[in-house]
Amino acid sequence: STPTPEASGESGPKQSARPTHPQGTALTTSQGTPLRDTDHSLKAGPRGPILLQDHHLREKITHFDHERIPERVVHARGAGAHGRFISYGTGSRICSAGFLAEGVETPVFVRFSTVAGSRGSADTVRDTRGFATKFYTEEGVFDLVGNNIPVFFIQDGIKFPDVVHSVKPHPDLEIPQAQSAHDTFWDFVSEHTQAQAHTMWFMSDRGIPRSYRMMEGFGVHTFKMVAPDGTTSLVKFHWKPRLGVHSLVWEEALLANGADPDFHRRDLAEAIKAGAFPEWELGVQVFEDNEEQMFEGIDLLDPTKFVPEELAPVQLIGKMVLDRNPANYFAETEQVAFHPGHLVPGIDVTNDPLLQVRLFSYIDTQITRLGGPNFSQLPINLPHAPVNDMLRDGMHQTYVHEGIAPYHPNSLDGGCPFMAGEGDNIRPPFIDVPEHVAEALKERGNPVSFEDHFSQVTMFYRSLDTQEQLHVQQAYSFELGKCASEQVRKRQLQALANIDAGLCAAVAHELGLPAPEADTEVPESELCPSVSQMGGMWPID
Ligand code: HEM
Repeated sequence: STPTPEASGESGPKQSARPTHPQGTALTTSQGTPLRDTDHSLKAGPRGPILLQDHHLREKITHFDHERIPERVVHARGAGAHGRFISYGTGSRICSAGFLAEGVETPVFVRFSTVAGSRGSADTVRDTRGFATKFYTEEGVFDLVGNNIPVFFIQDGIKFPDVVHSVKPHPDLEIPQAQSAHDTFWDFVSEHTQAQAHTMWFMSDRGIPRSYRMMEGFGVHTFKMVAPDGTTSLVKFHWKPRLGVHSLVWEEALLANGADPDFHRRDLAEAIKAGAFPEWELGVQVFEDNEEQMFEGIDLLDPTKFVPEELAPVQLIGKMVLDRNPANYFAETEQVAFHPGHLVPGIDVTNDPLLQVRLFSYIDTQITRLGGPNFSQLPINLPHAPVNDMLRDGMHQTYVHEGIAPYHPNSLDGGCPFMAGEGDNIRPPFIDVPEHVAEALKERGNPVSFEDHFSQVTMFYRSLDTQEQLHVQQAYSFELGKCASEQVRKRQLQALANIDAGLCAAVAHELGLPAPEADTEVPESELCPSVSQMGGMWPID
């Protein structure tokens, strides 16, 4: 077993040793043979036919034929940027990760995205936005693969294909796209009331951000942090944009879609080019890691719930600056591969059933999307920490491994690889946090604490000001107005009645339908505590 080449601590993606397009040098084939003509194919006489033996012609056309790779099954449209994360040091009280120590600067690559649309769709559609950050830390890569909305559609990953099928274009005509306004979407969210929370957030102005630079980001799930002394706490990650949170109004979004479908992509790139580097602060809400994993009646393992910041303030642990545009969209933004299981010592996952499914979904899809299991060797994905794995061969292997014994323990390759602690005392190893797993029956289904699907939606809607509430009413009216099925529209109105009678009445009026009465008893006092009920969180500064 051998240390892999090129895994150094340099910042930025590694370029291959091959010249990419040096000025002043001759055009060659992929094999390095200089060419005299790339404008005419080799023919039998000036009027042809073309000869099969023209290798340059065949190489050029064949390579072109394979230029495209499958787009991401979700989040296909994105825009990326490089930058750095500077730690304040406040996080190291609860987390041993080296990149959270005071003053440590870590290179990052961020990819923002829409969810539903294809690679060529427009930017300013009403949708959730992805906010994925790759931290190239000295202890390995840490990916924070989040969204701009703190809650998710579903509670269990087994439902992910279902919700995505409902939002993607219809199979007959491939319309509509990148909009929520169609029957299957409203059918899904009205049938699955767990989806009402996320739906309300993206029917609000959060669903049409003004700019990627003006979006919050959320890890959504609860993660576990481990302090140097082994103490654990539960955290939720938040990105806070220095420019504040701003949205478009619907008419602006429509105009931007038509006039400039690259509105967000261009805005990000131009700001960075002009030196107006966007900045976010990273913060965590911190909760005691108790056996119930609940906080103030909110189940921390339920990804459709958020914890109001009045109850658990976001405590800032660092700052991110995006200061460099990608040099090559395909090599960087398209080929980057994020994974919620890319963790570093000090950060671990929880039993959130959505997160657990994500842990195997991403690598699986990337094996198809990026053509085999070696995509971590692509420059943009290459860790900046030394790599010494026992993974061998496979499609698109670029390392030339040395040694004969890629297994552990071995007594032939000088005993290498050894495990951290057997000799390498410098780099702390990743340790799975021991956790008591209750003796339990194997079963499908959700805990009772996952059953309240409405009280937080009500809280969010009522936290908006009058103008924002009007935008929500208009968004539901417009989008549901595109839904042809009356039974679906009525079922969604029933869900709105359970959220807020005024909202339901306003939307029902626009749809020309009667407003139903609420049919769910919302245990608001228990599950949605008033914001004055503070306490229980662990201060870190
Ligand atoms: C991308 C699956 C939930 C955020 C993806 C991709 C898949 C996927 C297959 C494409 C990855 C690629 O081709 O590289 C799932 C599944 C989920 C889930 C199965 C639930 C079980 C979530 C949640 C969030 C999220 C809850 C936010 C917290 C993202 C982001 C991307 C992404 C930001 C784009 C990453 C990029 O820019 O390359 N997801 N996802 N996903 N997902 Fe999820």
